[in-house]
Amino acid sequence: MTTPFDSVENAPAKLNLFLHVTGQRDDGYHLLDSLVCFASVGDRLEGRLRDDGDITCTLTGPMANALGADGLGDLAPEDNLVMRAARLLQDHYNVTAGADLRLHKTLPVASGIGGGSADAAAALRLLCRLWKIEPDPLDLGRMALVLGADVPVCLVGGTVLMQGIGEILHPVPPLPDFPIVLVNPGTAVSTPKIFAARAGEFTDNDLWDRHARFDTIEDLVTALQDCRNDLTYAAIGLSPEICDVIAALGAEEGCLLARMSGSGATCFGLYGTPDAAQKAAKILHEAHPDWWVVAGQLAGDAFKNQMPDLQDKNA
Ligand code: C5P
Repeated sequence: MTTPFDSVENAPAKLNLFLHVTGQRDDGYHLLDSLVCFASVGDRLEGRLRDDGDITCTLTGPMANALGADGLGDLAPEDNLVMRAARLLQDHYNVTAGADLRLHKTLPVASGIGGGSADAAAALRLLCRLWKIEPDPLDLGRMALVLGADVPVCLVGGTVLMQGIGEILHPVPPLPDFPIVLVNPGTAVSTPKIFAARAGEFTDNDLWDRHARFDTIEDLVTALQDCRNDLTYAAIGLSPEICDVIAALGAEEGCLLARMSGSGATCFGLYGTPDAAQKAAKILHEAHPDWWVVAGQLAGDAFKNQMPDLQDKNA
């Protein structure tokens, strides 16, 4: 009889409520200042121990084919970020055990909400538990950064002000569970191309008050209106439908702010009430059946992980 998958980790969607590009390093990576939080929607990773050292990863869920589950894409299933994270962790800590992993993929890929990064972070958390590794937080943080600039923030979860290229993580007061709608027009966008296409001045660093608390969504929206996503124009240049998505979200009743997340193409709308968010999602889905549309909420501190804290250790 096969052992059931007995370990589970959530891989929630990451949202950049604002994203300022504040500079560029000599190696080409951009310096960011971004308020990151997580949503109540996401992928799910399950795992079980193997004694023989092998690692397998099966893909299920509506977005599994985009990760190569059907063998038709460019990506071999063994190259997905979950497998890369698992192999890196196993090698780094000389683990002799292996694991069977099963990723339930519901988030669109290459879409600015950190799907792959959230999956990789979930794999690191799940396998540390399964393989009984008690990593040094900085060591694990560095490993996460090797996998992608957004992986450290996904490892930590919660509400975070992210700086550097993604390795400087400042804790900020958690946001209440404000209602959101996420929309992706179905185009995968290339993060390197968007960063390369960004033009203009850099934004000042540290514009956000790290101690600010927001009890009402109106207060949060007022503060966010002084900020923006500096990658928006570059992303629209490469995927013009992002413009339609932002306009469609913003036109729905009760939408207080509509903005792109990360390097796109997923955009989010913040809504005054859960009903308004549900209603907007229904209307948007009916009007654009080919768009990925989901209503949910900011997850506050629900996904703040029990991992040793990376926050402020790099600051
Ligand atoms: O680290 P990740 O794989 O997510 O980044 C993909 C690409 O996006 C990088 O190779 C780089 O071109 C660009 N990038 C950047 N600055 C960041 C994050 C990503 O220029 N802070």
